[in-house]
Amino acid sequence: MSITTLAQYITEKERRMPGAGGELTALMGDLTAAMRVIANAVNRGALAGVLGAAGAENVQGEEQKKLDVLSNEIIIEQTRWGGRLAAMASEEMEDVYPIPEDLPRGPYLLLFDPLDGSSNIDVNISVGTIFSVLRCPEGVSRPTVQDFLQPGVRQVCAGYALYGPATTLVVTTGEGVDGFTLDRAVGEFYLTHPGMRIPAQTQEFAINASNMRHWDPPVRRYIEECLAGKEGPRGKDFNMRWVASMVAEVHRILTRGGIFMYPADAKIRAKGQGGRLRLMYEANPMAFIVEQAGGAASTGSGRILEVQPEALHQRVPVILGSREEVERVEAYHREAAGG
Ligand code: F6P
Repeated sequence: MSITTLAQYITEKERRMPGAGGELTALMGDLTAAMRVIANAVNRGALAGVLGAAGAENVQGEEQKKLDVLSNEIIIEQTRWGGRLAAMASEEMEDVYPIPEDLPRGPYLLLFDPLDGSSNIDVNISVGTIFSVLRCPEGVSRPTVQDFLQPGVRQVCAGYALYGPATTLVVTTGEGVDGFTLDRAVGEFYLTHPGMRIPAQTQEFAINASNMRHWDPPVRRYIEECLAGKEGPRGKDFNMRWVASMVAEVHRILTRGGIFMYPADAKIRAKGQGGRLRLMYEANPMAFIVEQAGGAASTGSGRILEVQPEALHQRVPVILGSREEVERVEAYHREAAGG
């Protein structure tokens, strides 16, 4: 039996990338070392004393959990010394983290959400780490926020680790999507889900329905039609799921199809925000993965990957998953706009 490790897989992908010199393979090694440590902390939970609030808020005014802070530190510690990165940025840090002067710098910029869905942590439900890798612009030795503000189409690599019953890692370098499972006994990620594909159609949707009264008409129309089931205009019954952990929702969609929506709504706009989820380290990496698996990812009015970022912690509406369903939601937006 031939078993592919993550290192073999990334090395082979990197050999085909013009101008790549082995740093991506090394970066993935550093990143997955961090993920193994986070998986262990998540897994030990109360035994490791890591549950509960950290007693502070992050840049977005959200309560930080101890594991948010710890996961952020673990990723920085594991990735900053190896000479693969010029700088990094995270949901948990207001500003860009430059690689310290006394350490070697590399060609990549790393963006991450260290522990997505962390409100689930205390109740023992799946959480995950999301990451996105960009190239540092030519000639830039001290990257600033401006150097990070590249549209999602420029991502070199993106992925997530899902800390669920098993720890899985899903990665794309722009040549499809592949899934790995952590073998805890040997501490290695093995390729277990090669060539993940999202079915074009689905009968399962995921949305936080407690926001229904704030939704825009196209979103309301789409969900109402799903809820009407066989007797409604769609002529089929739909199922609903909401884990409140985007990584788990995307993983389910990659496994069996579906549509995930966190649209902009009146309540979000009243707060002066463009959406709930963050563009650079949530929406973009997930959109890259979903598109590479044959699905679609939209703001409702266009491709997420083509949004020109204006700020590091910018938020966008997210509608992603099975292609035909995402296109339907986009069409409802166009019709509502009179297009
Ligand atoms: O970081 C955002 C996040 O935790 C996502 O993982 C998840 O999809 C969403 O927020 C859950 O939002 P809500 O609390 O509205 O259900």
